[in-house]
Amino acid sequence: MTPNHLRTLDDLPEPTLRRLLKRGSELRRLQHQGVAHEPLRGRVLGMIFEKSSTRTRVSFEAGMAQLGGSAIFLSPNDSQLGRGEPIEDTARVLSRMVDAVMIRTFAQDNVERFAAYSAVPVINGLTDSAHPCQLLADLQTFIEHRGDIRGKTVTWVGDANNMCLSYIKAARLFGFELRIACPANYAPSTQDLGADDVASVHTDPAQAVAGSHLVVTDVWASMGMEAEADERLEAFRPYQVNAELMAHADPQAVFMHCLPAHRDEEVTAEVLEGEQSLVWDEAENRLHVQKALLEYLILGDGSD
Ligand code: CP
Ligand code: NVA
Repeated sequence: MTPNHLRTLDDLPEPTLRRLLKRGSELRRLQHQGVAHEPLRGRVLGMIFEKSSTRTRVSFEAGMAQLGGSAIFLSPNDSQLGRGEPIEDTARVLSRMVDAVMIRTFAQDNVERFAAYSAVPVINGLTDSAHPCQLLADLQTFIEHRGDIRGKTVTWVGDANNMCLSYIKAARLFGFELRIACPANYAPSTQDLGADDVASVHTDPAQAVAGSHLVVTDVWASMGMEAEADERLEAFRPYQVNAELMAHADPQAVFMHCLPAHRDEEVTAEVLEGEQSLVWDEAENRLHVQKALLEYLILGDGSD
């Protein structure tokens, strides 16, 4: 049987994604109440990191431990992947030994190829074009604080990066309007935007943020773009999320950032630390919603 994967958000149908968000909130409550929940006893998650991480590594590793299982960290520096062993071979070998694999890498194609040869579920822990686990945490967090996101307006301010591209998919799946505020020459491609009108592109950030219920941003130079950092700093300067920009949003608007953040570049310290900011809950929810995801992918939920 072909395993379920989370290569992008599109891998799981909307009702399943919504169930995961709800389950994430339940698991958060259980964890806060100190209730042990160990359905993955004896199960192992393999984690391949070709890029740095704090949240993704710790949330998956702690999550597996809390569920009664364990996780193995692999990096190219200390595995045969770094010495050129093909992804297809690594996938076939690892998936005979572990119950699921999480991969953080550069090209999305690496995740696709790994999944094609894996006998166990594969989770995308970030690629150059997607960060679905972060979207699950963002959606869970918004719903916990403001209720259903369907029909709401979300404005992405900044680079049309992996997070932004995952927001486009989420808008389509969850039924919210997405506005993307970015310099014209950094706009997402028409292919990334899709044929429908779920996302619109704006060069005026104040106009894009007007009346929004959620304002989101991320770094201007993602991992792998270090050489472009100075050029990007100049191009994106008018797109900083600050108190003045937030004043255009709905009075109940919240702010999110997947972190790590560069204070006073893409967001001011005032907004990041301010009352509208949900970034700490957002980071914590990586743990809870990924536990829901691991439960679902490894054990199934009986409805498939
Ligand atoms: N948001 C996020 O994925 O953080 P890390 O890079 O620390 O994993
Ligand atoms: N867009 C950022 C997200 C980091 C979690 C990056 O890819 O570096």
